[in-house]
Amino acid sequence: MGIKDAALVQIEHGALLHDIGKLKIPDSILWKPAKLNDDEWQTMRRHAEYGYQFLSNVEFLKGAAEIVYSHHEKFDGSGYPRRLRGDQIPFGARVFMVVDTVDAMIYKRPYNTPVSFDEAGRKSGDAPVRSLTRMWSNRRWSIYATTSLSTSNNSGAVA
Ligand SMILES: [Fe+2]
Repeated sequence: MGIKDAALVQIEHGALLHDIGKLKIPDSILWKPAKLNDDEWQTMRRHAEYGYQFLSNVEFLKGAAEIVYSHHEKFDGSGYPRRLRGDQIPFGARVFMVVDTVDAMIYKRPYNTPVSFDEAGRKSGDAPVRSLTRMWSNRRWSIYATTSLSTSNNSGAVA
C-alpha cells in the first residue's frame, strides 16, 4: 500500500490500542448482556475520546492517539465522536477502519458467520473494503477465518 515505516508503526499502535478507552467504561455497560439504551450508548461512545486522552500525552503515541480518536468515524460523516468525513479522517484511522471491517466479516463473531476474504469484498457495500480485497486477491493471497493467513492454488487464494 506504500505506507512508510513511521506511519505503519503509528497504524500498528493505533490498531492495537484502538479500544483502550473502554478501560474507562463501567463494566455494567461494557458487559451488559442486552442492548444498550441511549444513555449507555452515549457513555460507550466516549471510549474513543478516552483513548485519545490516554495516549495523546505520550510522545511516541501521538499519531496512534489520532487513530484511536477517529476509529469510529465513517466516510459519510455519520460516525463519532467528531462526525468527520472522507479526508477529514486521519489516514491511519481510514486504513484501520477498512481492515477492521474486513476483520469483522472474516472472523467468527457473536453476530455473524464468517465469510472468506474474497466473499467479504463481494458482500461489502464499502468501496475501500472492495478495493482492499481486490488488491489482495490480485496478489493471489487469501485469508480465511480458520487460518489467519494461508496459501493455496484455488481462486482467490495463495501465496
Ligand atoms: Fe471502538
